[in-house]
Amino acid sequence: MTGNEIRQAFLDYFERHEHKVVHSSPLLPANDPTLLFINAGMNQFKDVFLGLEKRDYSRAVTSQKCLRAGGKHNDLDEVGKTARHQTFFEMLGNFSFGDYFKKEAIEYAWDLLVNEFKLAPERLWFSVFEGDDEVPPDDEARALWEKVGAAPERILGFGRKDNFWQMGDTGPCGPSSEIFHYMGDDPLDPEKNSPYWVNGPGDTTIEIWNLVFMQFNRTHEKDGTFKLTPLPAPSVDTGMGLERMAAVMQHVETNYETDLIKPFVEFVAELANA
Ligand code: SER
Repeated sequence: MTGNEIRQAFLDYFERHEHKVVHSSPLLPANDPTLLFINAGMNQFKDVFLGLEKRDYSRAVTSQKCLRAGGKHNDLDEVGKTARHQTFFEMLGNFSFGDYFKKEAIEYAWDLLVNEFKLAPERLWFSVFEGDDEVPPDDEARALWEKVGAAPERILGFGRKDNFWQMGDTGPCGPSSEIFHYMGDDPLDPEKNSPYWVNGPGDTTIEIWNLVFMQFNRTHEKDGTFKLTPLPAPSVDTGMGLERMAAVMQHVETNYETDLIKPFVEFVAELANA
């Protein structure tokens, strides 16, 4: 599939499941002094998650242009060093605003990846939040992954750094569950296709999709501390890297070799007589 076809297939899949297709917002946040650039698909829905704004839909799907050049979860230090980090990228996401929660989010993700995109389950890894002193372990997500068909040994627990997402120091947040894909040539090799590489070194096992279970709002209190309060309704915010998914589907080793980016590299190379 081309990058354009992957984007369209994602939007179509969720539209078939009653999601409203919403346009990407501009890169500059319209009304949010906490954010310099749009860094995730959920930004344009921040007030909807907080219960401050009502829309005439409770499910949405977008392909959002993102720029990660500072702030939380930007991975800027990785850009240029890995095959999969970019400052500018497109994030495919499905959203539930107090509608469905973990069960459907996990069922949709499995169905789309395994049945529509035909990814082999033996190449997929799943991570869930393992809990800390503020938020308990996400045993529910683990059980739901097993129920849809994930092998128990392919579901791994990680801490706050990897499996708790928030858009900034304040705002909606919650435990997350990530999906990883082993890109190598030998899925049966227990050393190459192993838990060691999930959130580990290298570009062979890469995160392709992050499902965030939005449950809390983090606020900055007058005494300088940060407080976590439950959201009015548990919600879902997911983000799939379009260029990473294209690398998976096009069997190339880096995002730069996908049909989404390669033409630009070739164009510049031509100008440079390289
Ligand atoms: N907000 C989450 C992320 O950016 C999921 O969309 O990863």
